[in-house]
Amino acid sequence: MPKLSDPVTIRGMEVKNRLGFPPMLSMSSDANGCPTEKTFNIHETKARGGVGLITYEAVSVEPETFGPQNTSANIGKNANIPAYKRVTDAVHKYDAKIGMQLADGGLIGFVLASIFGFKIEPRGPSTVDLLHLTSAYETMVSSWPDTLKQTGAVCKEMSVEEIARVEDLFAAAAKRAIQAGFDYIEIHSAHATLHSAFLAPYSNVRTDKYGGSTEKRCTFLLETMEKIRNSIGEEPPLFVRLSVDELLPDGLKLEESKKIAKIIENAGVDCIDVSQGNMIRNPKGIQIPTYVEHGGYIHLAEEIKKIVNVPVIGVGRIVDPKMADEFIQRGKVDIIYMGRQLICDAETPNKYFNGQLDDIKYCMGCLQSCGSTCVYDAYSGQNYTTISPSSDLKKIVILGAGIAGMEAARVAKLRGHDVEIFEKSDKVGGLIPLLAMEYKKEEFMNIVNFLATQLKKLEVPIQLNKELTKQEISDLKPDILVLATGTEATIPKSLEGKSNVLTQDEAILKSKSIGKNVVVWGLGAYWRGGPETAITLAEQGYNVKALMGSNTTVATEMLIATGRRLWILEYLRDNNISIYFKAKLLDVTDRGVKFLDENKNEQFLEADTLVYCGSRITQGKKLKKQFEGAAPKIQLIGDCKRPRDIGEAMKDAQTFARKLK
Ligand SMILES: Cc1cc2nc3c(=O)[nH]c(=O)nc-3n(C[C@H](O)[C@H](O)[C@H](O)COP(=O)(O)OP(=O)(O)OC[C@H]3O[C@@H](n4cnc5c(N)ncnc54)[C@H](O)[C@@H]3O)c2cc1C
Ligand SMILES: Cc1cc2nc3c(=O)[nH]c(=O)nc-3n(C[C@H](O)[C@H](O)[C@H](O)COP(=O)(O)O)c2cc1C
Repeated sequence: MPKLSDPVTIRGMEVKNRLGFPPMLSMSSDANGCPTEKTFNIHETKARGGVGLITYEAVSVEPETFGPQNTSANIGKNANIPAYKRVTDAVHKYDAKIGMQLADGGLIGFVLASIFGFKIEPRGPSTVDLLHLTSAYETMVSSWPDTLKQTGAVCKEMSVEEIARVEDLFAAAAKRAIQAGFDYIEIHSAHATLHSAFLAPYSNVRTDKYGGSTEKRCTFLLETMEKIRNSIGEEPPLFVRLSVDELLPDGLKLEESKKIAKIIENAGVDCIDVSQGNMIRNPKGIQIPTYVEHGGYIHLAEEIKKIVNVPVIGVGRIVDPKMADEFIQRGKVDIIYMGRQLICDAETPNKYFNGQLDDIKYCMGCLQSCGSTCVYDAYSGQNYTTISPSSDLKKIVILGAGIAGMEAARVAKLRGHDVEIFEKSDKVGGLIPLLAMEYKKEEFMNIVNFLATQLKKLEVPIQLNKELTKQEISDLKPDILVLATGTEATIPKSLEGKSNVLTQDEAILKSKSIGKNVVVWGLGAYWRGGPETAITLAEQGYNVKALMGSNTTVATEMLIATGRRLWILEYLRDNNISIYFKAKLLDVTDRGVKFLDENKNEQFLEADTLVYCGSRITQGKKLKKQFEGAAPKIQLIGDCKRPRDIGEAMKDAQTFARKLK
């Protein structure tokens, strides 16, 4: 059996290894849908990192551009060809192959357009209930059913002429892509795109040649394949991406997808890219949360590989290249796509093939920023900037070995500065070891492990159990004092001293006793918010009676994180954990929690304990004042500056260290 580092040939195209970067929307195109400097960075860094194959994100074939701020990709006109050529030339310099994924977003475009306030008419194979076709949004956005009702939108059944028009657009776009230097074409026929909607029995109820049996539901895809082949000639490989299991009760399932795979193989497909899920009904197979185990979908690709003779790609929360290698060596698939892992660390292939395993940054599966950069590094991906040596070297003392302090130290040391960290507790990582105790969040320790390893290699001293006084800081004579001291959990003044009110930290650590019946306060973003703490407690056997807060939404960061958001909301729903929006906490008594609901009605929930996951406070300003004069410059970074999240803490740290002269 081959290894991950072995080449693979697809219709005569030799790919130098079996690791690929899947199509991943970056929304970084210009108003014409052309790649920008940001898009260029994304692809150049991946190719330089040693990956064999890159499939460019979903690109529209229409002559006009759509999307918020026109940032989606488009190859619908000849004028766009040269801009794409710059990307393919850069990738080819590293001997990697690049293909373009051509897509008609189908109803995905309609849903996003409705949310972002522009208009795309919903159309598809058949006129089917739009609420059913977009059911994930009914769970995620409480106003979604009303939005649909108000707009009166109906999924318009496409005429045969419209179908032919789209096929022709795909063929013309494919030709342009090849002219722009792309090595292969991929048709996006997964995730609720137009082509996948034709394949799925619940969205395609046509009775003409495009609907009915499995074979007939493949007609649109087969005609598109044929027209593309005619337009690009014999040489370039043609890939198709399928959601072989849509992870829906009435969706496409593996057994029928096997038939589809055979049908498209017989029609000349050169590679089948096996994916799963449906962006608007169940995105958990696409934007895969940490709750899904590593490589948890590989069996789907393995089953397809068993029945076809063309190369098969497997994808889905594969983070460790050792696992990817094992899947290849065990013959499960021919190629592994790693999406978020390569966004997290584009150098993963080079590091793995060169045996530098402990230098790899491992993806945490947080889904908090993958479209543009990674929470690890705001200067990666689209914003890639090299770390250059400093010309004016400083002595830097950092208080706090949370991720902000550690990252500032790592980058400053790489630039040549003299850095030392002092941490008042007995361990590094700050809040991360705490949040890693939440349900299925243990992988968040990846970021701490990476930083600790790198700081050790860079010989940055870290003194634990050390809280410096002003005098001790002065004695060290730093040029810059960095305060990365993070935050403290709080509870509202009115609840202070109540033994049955716990902070989030106390509830997670079990440092105070919790009763069996619990109410959790804290909606909003799930990072730092209550939803994941509520789930953690429920999983530990507590009876979580309700989750409430003053916000109107649970987990607002939804575009990238829909997989995580939907999973959380479904968990809360399925476990009868009621959500109270716009609530006002009135009191906590021995018997329970008194609050005003959003209609200003007073309510009482019997409970033993209230877990308060509200805002945290920083002592940053106070410390800065206290240490004034101990160093010529005092800099606040991370949560110490303002309580936020991992991405912002890391960005602050990087920005500070990169701005040093
Ligand atoms: C329960 C929970 C879940 C969360 N989940 C997420 C999530 O899913 N995604 C996300 O992005 N964010 C999440 N967050 C937020 C995230 O953990 C923080 O934003 C991030 O860890 C901040 O890092 P930091 O280094 O700035 O501060 P911290 O992690 O707070 O580190 C500060 C460090 O400074 C030390 N220190 C304090 N005072 C001194 C002193 N005087 N001298 C020396 N050392 C000192 C502390 O001991 C600590 O080690 C969560 C937070 C909590 C509480
Ligand atoms: C931010 C983001 C954008 C994505 N964009 C696309 C896309 O344009 N086309 C597509 O077929 N899949 C898209 N996907 C799915 C990925 O190609 C891939 O299948 C998914 O990220 C799972 O792989 P991973 O766990 O290795 O990241 C996207 C996923 C994410 C998280």
